[in-house]
Amino acid sequence: MSESDYQERLAKEGEVWGRVAAADAEVMAPDWRFHRTLRHNAIMHTADIDSLLACIRPGMTALEVGCGPGWLTLAMAQQGADAHGIDISRDAIQIARDYYDSIRDTVSGHASYEVADLNRITLPPEKYDVVVGKGVLHHLPEVAHLLDQIASTLKPGGLVWLADTNGDEALSTVLLASALTFVLPTEVPYRDKIKGLLRFGWRAPERIKASMQAEGLSPFEAAGREQNWLAMLQERFTIERRINMPAVTGYVTAQLKMPERPARFLLESIARIDRFLVRRGLLHNTGVVIYARKPGRETA
Ligand SMILES: C[S@@+](CC[C@H](N)C(=O)[O-])C[C@H]1O[C@@H](n2cnc3c(N)ncnc32)[C@H](O)[C@@H]1O
Repeated sequence: MSESDYQERLAKEGEVWGRVAAADAEVMAPDWRFHRTLRHNAIMHTADIDSLLACIRPGMTALEVGCGPGWLTLAMAQQGADAHGIDISRDAIQIARDYYDSIRDTVSGHASYEVADLNRITLPPEKYDVVVGKGVLHHLPEVAHLLDQIASTLKPGGLVWLADTNGDEALSTVLLASALTFVLPTEVPYRDKIKGLLRFGWRAPERIKASMQAEGLSPFEAAGREQNWLAMLQERFTIERRINMPAVTGYVTAQLKMPERPARFLLESIARIDRFLVRRGLLHNTGVVIYARKPGRETA
């Protein structure tokens, strides 16, 4: 890809995520204290994010890569850290800054935000106790460059926390997700589901796979999916903990259209079975949460 094509795509990447951040901010301020109760987070992410935040102590230096509208950077500052968030989306960063400015008197630590390209960034050596990234690596064609920079900017013994997808969805996962979203009520009426099945036949799961992988959502969606970032991480850090996310629950949660109470009950049940099948190796998942450490004396 030529330099001008790259810059053009990157600008569009920032615009797409700026629109997502603006739409989300219309509904709710970018603040984990509110977001943690949302259905998708409660089912999929709240326990893992809260566990991460429990590792953040006052006075720590923390960096978030791909911070979007800044809620996780802010949450680390609310724990008392000096936290910095980086993202390519100017609009998302503006939303993060505006919200932080509006509540900064109530934040015990400090938050700052910066617009920069993580594929090319140079980070200051040995500055941070903790580096975190959620859902960003699979957007980066230069994952190895960023991991090298994270290794350099962490203090010896520093913690890296990454939550992302690694690799492609397996056929069995896609088939189960297809079956569940066919049977359960979603935005798509049953009449249209049946029409779709008759029209696309055996190609229907391919379409579900594309939807699960959010294909086409942004110009660099899946640019990092072909790279095995977990293997790259293992070459640079000591992996301390790996949490396997459920394989299909996140997708079903996003699709399900049902009143809140029965939806939560159903999704929690699906999540329990899903996690069990993943643990037993009967279902392949791509989502992982990793705690890894830079060699040296622990600071976080
Ligand atoms: C899936 S969103 C995740 C946002 C946030 N971490 C969250 O969980 O809400 C991916 C984020 O990565 C950012 N991003 C994508 N490519 C990037 C790049 N080359 N440099 C910096 N940020 C990038 C996007 O702007 C977007 O905010």
